[in-house]
Amino acid sequence: MEQKEKIILTGDRPTGKLHIGHYVGSLRRRVELQNSGLYNKIFVFEADAQALTDNIDNPEKVRQNVIEVALDYLAAGLDPTKTTLFIQSQIPELCELSFYFMDMVSVSRLQRNPTVKTEIQMRGFNGESIPVGFFTYPISQAADIAMFKATTVPAGDDQEPMLEQCREIVRRFNNIYGDTLVEPNILLPENAACLRLPGTDGKAKMSKSLGNCIYLSDSADEVNKKVKTMYTDPLHLQVNDPGHLEGNTVFTYLDAFATDEQVARYTTDYATLQEMKDHYTRGGLGDMKCKKLLMAVLQEVLEPIRQRRAEYEKDIPAVYEILRKGCEVARAAACETMDEVRRAMKINYFDDRALIEEQARRFQK
Ligand code: TRP
Repeated sequence: MEQKEKIILTGDRPTGKLHIGHYVGSLRRRVELQNSGLYNKIFVFEADAQALTDNIDNPEKVRQNVIEVALDYLAAGLDPTKTTLFIQSQIPELCELSFYFMDMVSVSRLQRNPTVKTEIQMRGFNGESIPVGFFTYPISQAADIAMFKATTVPAGDDQEPMLEQCREIVRRFNNIYGDTLVEPNILLPENAACLRLPGTDGKAKMSKSLGNCIYLSDSADEVNKKVKTMYTDPLHLQVNDPGHLEGNTVFTYLDAFATDEQVARYTTDYATLQEMKDHYTRGGLGDMKCKKLLMAVLQEVLEPIRQRRAEYEKDIPAVYEILRKGCEVARAAACETMDEVRRAMKINYFDDRALIEEQARRFQK
C-alpha cells in the first residue's frame, strides 16, 4: 500500500509506573519524534486490554496504572496538542479488526513467536493453561498497529517479532482483499545501553518485582539513594584496582544518559565520558565519583519531568479529559480504517448498491 503520510503508533501496558528504562528505551525518543515535525500523526496509547491478557486475576492493578502511565507520558513531554494519547479498551473497532486478523494466522505461527514463547515460560503457563487471549495477543497487537496505518513503531527489540507478525498479517490481508492496510517498520533505540537498561542491581532488566527500578516519579532523594547502592564492578575493591566497564551498571547508565558536555560540566578531570572510562579501567578512580556524576546527570533529566508531573497531578480530572479527547480522535481514525476494511472485504452489504441490484436480478429470473 502506497502510504504518503508518516504515522507513528506505539504504546505500553499500564501495569506499573514507568521507569528510566522506559525513558531511554522509548519515551525520550517519542518526545523527540513528536517535536521533529516529520510525522503527520502520532498515536501513543495504553494497552490496557493487552495488560489484562495476563493480569486477569488483578484487573485493579491495570485500572490504577492507567492514570500513572498517563502522568508519566505527560511528564516526559508528550504533548496532547501534538500526540494523540488514548486507551486501547475504548476503541471497540480494535476487536473487530482482530477478529478478521485471526483468520490470517495459524496456531503454529503464533507458537513460534519468540516473545510469546519467553513470556509463556516466564509466567509459568504450561500447555493447555495458556489463556487464549494471551496466546493471541500478537494478533490484537497487529490490529493496534494496522488500525492506525502506522508506518513507524518506535519500540524495543523485544517487539520485533510482533512487528514481523503484523507485517505478515497485513501482507496477507492486502493479498486477499486488495491494498488496504500498511506494513509498519520498527524504530529501535539508537544505542545498546538504551535497548535494555539493566536494573540497579545489574540484573538484565528493570522490573517492579525485582525492586531494581528507578521510576520517573521517584523523588530526588530516592534516586540518589538508589544510585548509591547500585551494582558496579565486584572486582573493583580498592580505588587503585583496574575497573571493568562490562556489566557495570553505573557505566551502562552513563552511556544511556550522559552527554560529554555533561561529563565536562560535572567533573573537573574529564572532557568526555571515554576519558573517565579510561581512568576507571586503568585504576585509580573510585565508584563513588562515577556515581556522583550519574546522580547529577539523572537529576538534570528527571527534575523537569518531576515538576511537570507535579503540575498535572494537581488536576487529575483534566488528565482523564485529555485521555477521553484522545480516545475520540483515535476512534474517528479507527472508524475510517474499518470502513475501508469492510469495503475491501465486501462485507459492507448495505452500502453496496451493485450487490443488492445483482442479487435482485438473480432472483427475478
Ligand atoms: N506489547 C507492548 C508492550 O508490552 C504494548 C503494545 C501493545 C504495543 N500494542 C502495541 C507497542 C502496538 C507498540 C505497538 O509494551
